[in-house]
Amino acid sequence: MRVAMVGSGYVGLVSGACFADFGHNVVCVDKDPDKIEALKNGKIPIYEPGLEKLVEENVRLGRLSFSIDIVAAVSAADVVFIAVGTPSRRGDGFADLSYVYSAAREIACSLTGFTVVVTKSTVPVGTGDEVERIISEANPAANVSVVSNPEFLREGAAIDDFKRPDRIVVGTNDKNAEHMMREIYRPLYLNAAPIIVTNRRTAELIKYAANAFLATKITFINEIADLCEKVGADVQEVARGIGLDKRIGAKFLHAGPGYGGSCFPKDTIALVKTAQDLGTPVRLVETVVAINEQRKRAMARKVIGACSGSVRGKTIAILGLTFKPDTDDMRDAPALSIIAALQDEGATIRAYDPEGMDTARLVLANVTYANDAYDCAQNADAIVIVTEWNAFRALDFARLRQVMKSWVMIDLRNIYKYAEVAKEQFQYVGVGTHRDTFKN
Ligand code: UGA
Repeated sequence: MRVAMVGSGYVGLVSGACFADFGHNVVCVDKDPDKIEALKNGKIPIYEPGLEKLVEENVRLGRLSFSIDIVAAVSAADVVFIAVGTPSRRGDGFADLSYVYSAAREIACSLTGFTVVVTKSTVPVGTGDEVERIISEANPAANVSVVSNPEFLREGAAIDDFKRPDRIVVGTNDKNAEHMMREIYRPLYLNAAPIIVTNRRTAELIKYAANAFLATKITFINEIADLCEKVGADVQEVARGIGLDKRIGAKFLHAGPGYGGSCFPKDTIALVKTAQDLGTPVRLVETVVAINEQRKRAMARKVIGACSGSVRGKTIAILGLTFKPDTDDMRDAPALSIIAALQDEGATIRAYDPEGMDTARLVLANVTYANDAYDCAQNADAIVIVTEWNAFRALDFARLRQVMKSWVMIDLRNIYKYAEVAKEQFQYVGVGTHRDTFKN
C-alpha cells in the first residue's frame, strides 16, 4: 500500500518507519526543509531507541523516503496520515488544531482516486468531522474517507509499542476505509493484536480517555505515596499489593515526581476544557491536573527538607532532566519546575542527563552541565535523581563520597532502597518510603 505521512515529527517518523517495515511504500512529508534534508542524510532529529536503524534499513530497501513535496506524496497515496502536532493553545489550554486543519487543506487539493485520510495526531472529539468538511469544501470532487486512528506510543519504547500494540483503534463507519486500514495493519493483527473498529468520535475519545486514565492512575499512587510517608508504609509494596489484582493491573503505579512529557499534561488539560465547554465537566481529571502541577514544586520542598530545611548557598546535583528515560524530550519535564523552585530558594544547580542536555540548554537558565553522574556530584550538598536512566541505577557510592560535600541522596524515582543507600553512609529520601519501614 502507498502511504503519505504528513508531519515527520515523533509520531509521523515512528509510524512511517514501522509501516515501511511492514512492507508498505511510505513517504514522510514535512514543511521543514532542514529536517527533511537531515532525514535524507540519515540524521534522526529525535532520540528514540532503534529508530535510526529502522529508518536506515527501510530507506535502503527503497520503502521509505522523505520529501517536502506534499502534492506528489498525497496524489500517489492510498492512505494519507495526518501526524502533525496538536500542542496546547497558548492562553486557554485547548488543543491547537491549526496544523491539523492546514494539513487537511493542503491534502484536499492533491487527492486522486479513493483515498483514506487518517488523523493520527491526538485530536479532540469532532476534529475528524471538521477535517472532512475542510476537504470537501476545498475539493468537492474528492473521493475521500476520513478515519481516526489514534496512536498509543510511549516515547523511548515507541517502536515496540507500534509493533506489539495492546490494540489498534480505528474510527470509521465506512467499510472501504475499514478494509484499507485492516490491510495496512495486517502484519499486526495476524499476530493477534485486536483491532477495535468504532465510529470516528468514539475513537477520538478513546485516546483522551486512555491518557487521562493513565495520568489518574499515576496521580493516585503519588498521593498514596505521600500517605505512605506519613504512616510508615512503603508505596512500592502497596503498588505491588494492589497491582496484582487483575482488575487494577501493575502498570503505571510507579510513584514519582509527577507525570510530564508531550502528552499527558496537554491531553488531560484539553479533555478538561472540552468537557467543561460541553457542560459535562470531568472533575476527576480536573483534580488530577491540579494535583500533578502542585506535585512538581512539592518535590523541590522534599529536597529542601532533606537539606536540613534550606538550600541557600548549597549545590544540588540533578541526575536526569528529561521527563522519562530513553528520550531527549524535556516537554513538561518535572525537572524544569524542580530546578526553578530550588533556584528560587538560592540553590546552585549542577545537572547531568545522558541525552537531554542539548534540549535542556534551550529551556533552563543558570545550570552547570556535567559530563557524567560523578562530575555532576562534584562538591554537591545533595544528589537528586529526577529521571530513572539506567546509567544511575548502579552508582558507585565510594566515588560519590569522594566528590560530594554532604552525602545526601533524594531519589524521586525509587530506584534505590533505603537500606542499601544507608549502608553506604548516605542519608536517603525516596518517594512514599519511610525509614521506619526498613527498621525490621
Ligand atoms: C503516553 C502514553 O503512555 C502513550 O500510550 C501515548 O500514546 C502517548 O502518551 C501519547 O499520547 O502520545 P509518553 O508520554 O511517551 O506516552 O510516556 P509514558 O511512559 O506514558 O510516561 C508519561 C509520564 O508519566 C512520564 O513523566 C513518566 O515518568 C510518568 N509515569 C509513568 C510515572 O510517573 N509513573 C508511572 O508508573 C508511569
